[in-house]
Amino acid sequence: MYSLIRSFLFLYSPEKAHYVAMDLLNFYLKIPFLCRLVKSPQNNNQPVEFKGLKFPNKVGLAAGFDKNAKYLWALQQLGYGHVEIGTVTPIAQEGNPKPRLFRLKKDNAIINRMGFNNDGLDVVIDRLKHRPHGLIIGGNIGKNKITPNEEAPSDYLKCFKALYDYVDYFTVNVSSPNTPGLRALQGKDELLGILNVLLEERKSKSVQKPILLKITADLEKPQLIDAVEVVNETEVDGIVVSNTTIDRESLNSPSILVEAIGAGGLSGEPLKAKAHMACTIVKGSLAKHKLLIGVGGIMTEKDAEARLHAGADLIQIYTGFIYEGPQLITKIKNLNV
Ligand code: FNR
Repeated sequence: MYSLIRSFLFLYSPEKAHYVAMDLLNFYLKIPFLCRLVKSPQNNNQPVEFKGLKFPNKVGLAAGFDKNAKYLWALQQLGYGHVEIGTVTPIAQEGNPKPRLFRLKKDNAIINRMGFNNDGLDVVIDRLKHRPHGLIIGGNIGKNKITPNEEAPSDYLKCFKALYDYVDYFTVNVSSPNTPGLRALQGKDELLGILNVLLEERKSKSVQKPILLKITADLEKPQLIDAVEVVNETEVDGIVVSNTTIDRESLNSPSILVEAIGAGGLSGEPLKAKAHMACTIVKGSLAKHKLLIGVGGIMTEKDAEARLHAGADLIQIYTGFIYEGPQLITKIKNLNV
């Protein structure tokens, strides 16, 4: 059934298809009969409890899909236990010129250079005031493109303060390849510069909401370990690995197509091995009480199981959902893990 819907959606440009699909879902899921058809009540996953949060299952939606918190209710009906909104920046921004989202069908992959297009804090917070119950929501935060890296901590802090009462946990995104210079913030000193400001701010709060760090599998092993050390040595609560890759190795798509697409982050099947390896390395060094979320190239329930076995406490998907549809969430939820 989903392959039919997908053939229809793939007639549109990827960005258009995204909004057409989600607007239609938002509309049709409000019809009880259709909602019952789509909704899967089955859940064999063990819930995950972490710092006062109860994730109802192990599968979440990765950041970038519902950047502006517009589709939370529909996403919950599809079975996600958690959704990471954002990346949100302090001020709304348009992102890079279109086209900026591309399918590599032969690779079950996507290349994007969206560039943190988002509605900004105020609009997103207005939507979060009506958030659905029972869904865990993560706030993935970043800096505006015009903010120089030296002032990045102030952008992250603005997002952190403003979203604090509206999300359940935070993810500090320093790993998107589409904001110039952002990935340089993954260095130890730069990371500490941002994270310490947020940790200091959190001390004043009565509820200590988890702060996670999102990194890319493009980091070499020593850099990965550096990032883990930052998490281990501070009160940061965990790690999300991985963001998209800038690697273009071993693709099945013709190189002429890949070159014509140009810069951007690659996600889906070709990211799987690298993200899995990064997850394993991170797990090997991460302190036991920290949370590990595995993302990147999870296209089947077997991939999900493998990532959990590699040490992830939770997993997230994005590209797998585009190619496999809602049944992928159901299959993962039905795993006895
Ligand atoms: C992303 N991703 C992403 N990540 C992030 O932290 N902030 C963001 O704004 C975005 N935006 C975004 C847009 C698009 C179109 C894609 C495809 C991806 C990265 C995403 O959250 C995830 O880490 C990667 O896509 C790897 O997972 P999958 O897609 O292989 O399951």
